Amino acid sequence: MCGIVGYVGKNEKKEILLDGLQELEYRGYDSAGIAIIEDKQLKNFKAVGKLQNLRDKTKDYASEGFGVSIGHTRWATHGKPTELNAHPHMGAYSFVVHNGIIENYQELKDELQAQGVKFLSQTDTETIVHLFEKNHNINNNPWKAFQDTISKLEGAYATLLITEADEETIFFAKNGSPMLIGFNGSDIYFASSDTPIIGKATEVYYLEDGEFGYAKNGEIKLFDANGAKSFSKQPLATDKAMAQKDGYRFFMEKEIYEQAQVMNDTMMGRLLDDKIDFEELDENLFENITNIKICACGTSYHSALASSYLFERISKIPCQVEIASEFRYKEPLLRDDTLFITISQSGETADTLEALKMAKKAGLKSLSICNVDNSSIVRESDAAVLTRAGIEKGVASTKAFATQTMVLWMLAIYVAQAKNSIDSELLKKELDAMRHTPKALVVDEKLHTKMTRLSKRYLHGHGFFFIGRDIFFPLALEGALKLKEISYLHAEGYPSGEMKHGPIALADAELFTVALMPKSLHYDKIKSNVEELCARDATVLAISPDSFDLADDFVKTKYDAHPMLEFFEMMVVTQLLALEISVRLGNDVDMPRNLAKSVTVE
Ligand code: M6R
Repeated sequence: MCGIVGYVGKNEKKEILLDGLQELEYRGYDSAGIAIIEDKQLKNFKAVGKLQNLRDKTKDYASEGFGVSIGHTRWATHGKPTELNAHPHMGAYSFVVHNGIIENYQELKDELQAQGVKFLSQTDTETIVHLFEKNHNINNNPWKAFQDTISKLEGAYATLLITEADEETIFFAKNGSPMLIGFNGSDIYFASSDTPIIGKATEVYYLEDGEFGYAKNGEIKLFDANGAKSFSKQPLATDKAMAQKDGYRFFMEKEIYEQAQVMNDTMMGRLLDDKIDFEELDENLFENITNIKICACGTSYHSALASSYLFERISKIPCQVEIASEFRYKEPLLRDDTLFITISQSGETADTLEALKMAKKAGLKSLSICNVDNSSIVRESDAAVLTRAGIEKGVASTKAFATQTMVLWMLAIYVAQAKNSIDSELLKKELDAMRHTPKALVVDEKLHTKMTRLSKRYLHGHGFFFIGRDIFFPLALEGALKLKEISYLHAEGYPSGEMKHGPIALADAELFTVALMPKSLHYDKIKSNVEELCARDATVLAISPDSFDLADDFVKTKYDAHPMLEFFEMMVVTQLLALEISVRLGNDVDMPRNLAKSVTVE
């Protein structure tokens, strides 16, 4: 997804921009560009593909002395990934970068074109720079021209603009897409998330929707619809070490191995001797709540789906789960006795954020479960529980899923405690199982070697079914999503009992079935479903603590004392399977094609 970096100051600007953009690479992009003004000279470079291409293009350029600069990684929305469509977009004497979507761009573009303005790209963004220059040509006042420009924009944007008409200033505006400002003495940084400026800025201000202004002379002038406003900076985190690969081949691999450790962080201070406690939650949050609705996308949706079984079984509270992009347009009937939960690793997913805004508008109390503090979803929610997974760089989510699921499991118990719907025996059993979870997540080297070996048998065929029942059905969906994201092979998750209602028609030796066969939950039921597939010659990889003779391949799991322990252990097996198949196919594990880490457009 698109990323923005900006800098105004005396330091080498090209390196600051390129290094900053590098930190945003994990979000996914298809082209990149930078624009710099110093000594009244405007320089601009763009390249399609990896950032290295932009580095190569700029290798003979250095920017010394005071100046302003903006950079961007683009993930194509309007127009193909070409150099012309890459940001920064250029007018006659100004440049702009933008994240989000200008919904009324076509209307603005038509107007400008009718007045003779020539457009070079197919993007919505280019309208911003032409509109700015049109306004400036009329009033000869860059600040007023910028204000007039953003007042015309509809949709989501985080944007930076530089112009030779005011060459010491960066103009900025934010509405619906994330943007922050970093400070270090008189140096000022802009970025769409904090990773590009960690280690450079010492303090930060996270812009709110509707805020705009400019950076000049080492100062920020901030405004919103009510006029000039003050703001408070906060200290910026300094620890980037967690975001490095630590000797693993891929971030995804490192993140799979990290799960056991980060799970301790997730539980710390929350899993107590005899109860679950979330000190960040006010007990009033659950007052008069008789129903839970959860909205999320992708992997986060899968953790939500798993939790719906837990909320109903343990907390005895009805729970519905919806894909955020569907929820937004179905004209949902919402009741104010419903707690609206959103789940998001990034906290910036546009569909989830909009679903949250809709629920809030309807008067629902909201809770977000998120990995990124101060993200848009966290700030928008009445309450938030952070998953504490640390920065996740692999586009294919792993530790974020594990920690989301743990938070939701703990939350199900927390709600059960509040509603007195759990007896002490069950509570003890759940808490004991939780304490063992980090062990179930440890990656056994022998298992990893086995998955590497097995993966060579699963590189072809006409598709994969991941099957399971109950909470293992969402895990099957997640196993299939992981595989298709990084292997580009077709994979589907199915409830195993549903196979006979249609999908079993596909069964033959070239159909690979990954069967999640936990011992502690409906073992006999799933066993007969898998036997039905074996009888039709499907190739079966069974994952279970109990041996299963009919399987073509078998992975034995160890932790069978509680369904959630089996869930987490099997989750690791499916993650390793996807990883090793992707490696054998020679794919880019951390940045799979067509995908973005943070999906900030609808
Ligand atoms: O940041 P979010 O959790 O809101 O993101 C939702 C999905 O885009 C995300 O989970 C996506 O499906 C991942 N690539 C899964 O690996």
